[in-house]
Amino acid sequence: MTVSIDFTNMMAGALPAGTGITEAQWNGARAPFAAAHAAVEAQRKALGFLTLPTNEPLLASTLAIAERARGQFDDVLLLGIGGSALGPIALRTALRPLAWNTLSLEARNRYPRLHVLDNVDPSTIATMLARLNLGRTLVLVVSKSGGTVETMAQYLIVREALATTVGESQAKEHLVFVTDPEVGALRRIARAEGITTVDIPQNVGGRFSVLSPVGLLPAALIGIDVRALLAGAADMTQRAASTSPSDNPAGAFAVLQWLADTQHGRHVHALMPYADPLRDLALWFVQLWAESLGKQRADGTHTGPTPLPALGATDQHSQVQLFMEGPADKTVTFVAVNGRTREGAIPSRHADIPELAYLGGHTLGELLDIEQRATAGALAARGRLNATIAIDTVDAWHVGSLMQLFALATAYAGALYGIDAFNQPGVELGKNFAYAMLGKPGSGAARAEWDALPKPDPRWRL
Ligand code: PA5
Repeated sequence: MTVSIDFTNMMAGALPAGTGITEAQWNGARAPFAAAHAAVEAQRKALGFLTLPTNEPLLASTLAIAERARGQFDDVLLLGIGGSALGPIALRTALRPLAWNTLSLEARNRYPRLHVLDNVDPSTIATMLARLNLGRTLVLVVSKSGGTVETMAQYLIVREALATTVGESQAKEHLVFVTDPEVGALRRIARAEGITTVDIPQNVGGRFSVLSPVGLLPAALIGIDVRALLAGAADMTQRAASTSPSDNPAGAFAVLQWLADTQHGRHVHALMPYADPLRDLALWFVQLWAESLGKQRADGTHTGPTPLPALGATDQHSQVQLFMEGPADKTVTFVAVNGRTREGAIPSRHADIPELAYLGGHTLGELLDIEQRATAGALAARGRLNATIAIDTVDAWHVGSLMQLFALATAYAGALYGIDAFNQPGVELGKNFAYAMLGKPGSGAARAEWDALPKPDPRWRL
């Protein structure tokens, strides 16, 4: 079991003259990386995600809730947004069979379906509530702050629907809150009403919380091997003990993207798994990279590479044209799966049609693998920087390892860029304007700022 990273195609030697990271730049990044590593280690107490893979008491309390729920529910409905939703979605897509929610109870090994409501589009919520039998549904309300407007609005609607269907007193048996141990509206409600609650440690932030109960509880409820997930993450955490980017895969990823961005103008960072189950992991990575690294520094300068999700081979017929011939402002990181070259035998048919005959005897796994290598080579030949992270197979261990790699890399990248990767001040102003318009108490200042903004100009409307 291993996760490896091959970054030959990021380096000058493999690319046309004048492109790529030079050995001098790579070696020159050793000292900044060691400092970034030390900065992350120095914050160890504040960065709870580092110890999630070995937090046994938290795992035990999560598994106890999953165990109690076993067999009682046909559906799990998760209410959450951002870091409280993207991780659970990525885990379901990666580690449950395709279209899990459409499978029969037997095919699901008697585990429930998992639905994630991560928006407040009324049509989605109405459709979901019309489809679910709430009498057989467990509702997870997931919010670190315990007060996020979208999640609270969902909660109020779903709680009302539960009360109508199963009765006010029974409704509580259908609710589990996943939230901060001390603060927030959810915690207050849980205390007042005795609703089952599992903690998100105070030092674990939203987008770094997939290996906390935020991801582990829904994963355990639908039968994902969460111990293997944590073991993979623990292995990557151990490999990240090294202060050398040559021995630390997360460090290597962070250094490469940082060098490519700051010294080679590669400001867009695509993540392109060649595996359908990892499609949503790319979306999870987008949030992690974007919300953590897109920042204004104290001196007023701005930083932040733009992450881009892609999927191989599908995007070979879409975004790869842009990656090859568009602006040379991107890196592409492939995720390749090594161990499936025998899967999906392609039958030999139409021997007389050369366009098809050559495929017979190959496999789909081999085709995907070859296409990934071909795309990587083609990009390199055109001076387009790319790296390949390889895993043996898409299972809980490797997914846990990959997720921890990206979380660690994000922390290192924050230190390399000289910003705080763990806050998100940029989302506050929009939130406060929305609160002001909704009449939330205490939003007078935001209301005044909103009212002072220029009004829509009739010259620019049609
Ligand atoms: O990464 C983050 O901190 C955010 O994206 C949050 O996850 C998101 O805003 C939801 O917050 P909460 O879990 O407090 O409801």
